Amino acid sequence: MSELLKMLGCRYPIIQGPIGMFNSPQMVAAVSEAGAYGMLALGFINDMDEVKRLVAEVKKLTDKPFGANIMLINPANAEILKILAEAGVKAVTTSVGSPKDVYPIIHGLGMKGIHVVLALPHALAAVKAGADALVVVGSEAGGLRSRNPESSTMVLVPLVADHVSVPIVAAGGVADSRGYRAALALGAQGVQVGTRFLASQESPASEHWKKAIVECGDGGTDLIPALGMKVAQRIIVTPWIKERMSDPAVKNIADELDINPDQTGRYDRAAFGAGQVSALIKDIKPIKEIIREMVS
Ligand SMILES: Cc1cc2nc3c(=O)[nH]c(=O)nc-3n(C[C@H](O)[C@H](O)[C@H](O)COP(=O)(O)O)c2cc1C
Repeated sequence: MSELLKMLGCRYPIIQGPIGMFNSPQMVAAVSEAGAYGMLALGFINDMDEVKRLVAEVKKLTDKPFGANIMLINPANAEILKILAEAGVKAVTTSVGSPKDVYPIIHGLGMKGIHVVLALPHALAAVKAGADALVVVGSEAGGLRSRNPESSTMVLVPLVADHVSVPIVAAGGVADSRGYRAALALGAQGVQVGTRFLASQESPASEHWKKAIVECGDGGTDLIPALGMKVAQRIIVTPWIKERMSDPAVKNIADELDINPDQTGRYDRAAFGAGQVSALIKDIKPIKEIIREMVS
């Protein structure tokens, strides 16, 4: 058994990628029941009753291991981690922020921590800070990105593997058994999957969001500024968004997008987050089927 699987305690080395503030205990349980590692997305949460409710809901639905993601910019992390440890969570992922202060807390609670990195210097710093493993996320991934030039999964995973001895989880571009096997060949012990699970039957994403992923073609995503221009975010670009992005008069396309298209109906301006791998996703499948095909 790999070091990563020992850490996660599940059957397959596949981690559910956290998606912003999306939390569906049903989806987390479905991932864990299918043999992978279901994850709550606790990056932005500061209501501890809600954390307790989410954890209890997942535990009602599955007795298999599951974890959670915390974001290191969240001041509520110490409290969140305590609740998770008391619930028996064995491993968490940490992202967006410096890992320096949180790893002593994670280890003090008897848990393992897997830090999410987008570049080699982050990977080296995370190992120095005590990370037990790394999620190495290539530039094709969905979610937040830095505004620096970045390497794709194909380059970044073996590069980090050449420099660290902790287990690596590859993220960015994995949607099926080809991506899964490629990640293992690159030196990862497992994968983290975001976009493919976002477009699953159990995903709480809206039907329009799932449809946008299924209809996204080659080159159908792009990076836009996020969190006040400090970082970038990968979204699916509609013809309207593409046109506006090429207009030099538009200073920040993020200001023109509709963050609530289900209320306004302006889906041509919707900021549907997703990875480049959307181009490979052609249907909305149950989680169990996605995982079964991935490990086949
Ligand atoms: C819309 C969206 C939101 C995301 N939000 C988070 C997040 O809150 N925390 C995090 O660590 N990763 C986040 N991610 C990244 C995923 O967890 C995962 O690492 C990534 O999607 C993997 O690449 P893929 O999209 O090619 O599968 C997000 C991804 C997407 C598509």
